[in-house]
Amino acid sequence: MARERIISANEQPQDLPQEAANPALRPRKLHEYIGQPELIERIRIAVEAAKKRSEPMEHVLLSGPPGLGKTTLAHIIADEMNGNPPKITSGPALVKPADLVGILTNLKHGDVLFIDEIHRMSHIVEEYLYPAMENYSIDVVMDSGAHAQVMNIPIQPFTLIGATTRTGLISGPMRSRFGIAHHLNYYSPADLLKIASRSAELLKLPADSSALLEIASRSRGTPRVANRLLRRVRDFAVVRSHGKLTHDVLEQALALEGIDSLGLDPLDRRFLATLARDYEGGPAGIEALAATMGEERDTLEDVVEPFLLQIGFIRRTPKGRQMTSAAYAHLGIDKPVEKPDTLF
Ligand code: ADE
Repeated sequence: MARERIISANEQPQDLPQEAANPALRPRKLHEYIGQPELIERIRIAVEAAKKRSEPMEHVLLSGPPGLGKTTLAHIIADEMNGNPPKITSGPALVKPADLVGILTNLKHGDVLFIDEIHRMSHIVEEYLYPAMENYSIDVVMDSGAHAQVMNIPIQPFTLIGATTRTGLISGPMRSRFGIAHHLNYYSPADLLKIASRSAELLKLPADSSALLEIASRSRGTPRVANRLLRRVRDFAVVRSHGKLTHDVLEQALALEGIDSLGLDPLDRRFLATLARDYEGGPAGIEALAATMGEERDTLEDVVEPFLLQIGFIRRTPKGRQMTSAAYAHLGIDKPVEKPDTLF
C-alpha cells in the first residue's frame, strides 16, 4: 500500500542521509550505540576475541521488531572487524542456492554478510548455507547434464548476521549455527531521549528538553521512529519558530501527522477501531482483520501488533486478537458488555 506512515518502523527513503543537511543519524561505532547494553557487551567481547585470534567474529542472529537497530549493528560489526561495508541481502531474494554462490565466493576474509528477513529464505538455501557457516565451504555444480560434477570449494571465513522479526520461524538447526542469538527489545524512554538528543545535535536542531522527551515517549520504543519524527518536526520548527523545536511546535506538528499521546498513528487506531466495532473487541483472526481493513497481514503482524501487545492494548488468544480495557479507554469507546459463554 502506497500510504506513507511516519511512525512505520520499516526503513523508508527519508531515513537515508542524502545531503549535508540530512546527515546519517545511525551510530557507526560500538561506543556510540545507545541502549541494548547486554547485546552491545556481548558483541564487544566477541569482536575483541575474534580480532585477537585473527578470525572472523562468530555468526550473529538478531531478532526483534523493525527499527531497533539490526541493520545498524551489522554495519557497526563490519566496521569493527575488517572495515569493509557489510554485504547485504534478504531472505526473499534467496530462492535457490545459485542466488548465494556469487555473494559467498566474493567474500573477503572477515567480511560481514547480512541477511535481512532471514526467516523468509527458502529451505534449500538454508541448507546450502550450513556448510558455508560451519566449515567455510560450499558445493558448486560444474558443467551440466551427464558431465555434471559437484565440487566442494573453500570460501573466505566470514561472519553471517541474520535478522528476523519472527524468532519463531527460524528452524532449530539454523539457530544452533549462530554463536550469538539475541532478541532486541523496545528501547526505554530514557534511551530514546539520549538518542533523540544526539540526533538533534547531529541535525543542528536546537530543541527544548521537554520537546525531546515528548518525542522519546511517542516513538514506540523505536529509534528509527524517533529519528523520523525529529526530521519531520524540524521543518515545522523552521517555519513556525525560527528553527527552534519547542514543546508547542512539537505538539502542533504531531497533531498534524495524526500521532497521538502514545505514539499511535491512524493505522494503529484503525486496527483497534476495526477490532472494536466490526468484531466487538474480538477475539478476531488476523486474516479476517487484514481483509476487513484492506491491509497486508504482514504489515499488521510486523509493525502494528507488536507495539499494541507491548503496551497491553491487545492480547493474543488461541481464538485470535482481543482488545483490552486499556485500549477502549484510550480510544474513548465504550467496552461492549461481556456476553455469557455460549458453549453450553
Ligand atoms: N540512532 C539510531 N539508533 C541509535 C542507537 N541505538 N544509538 C545511538 N544512535 C542511534
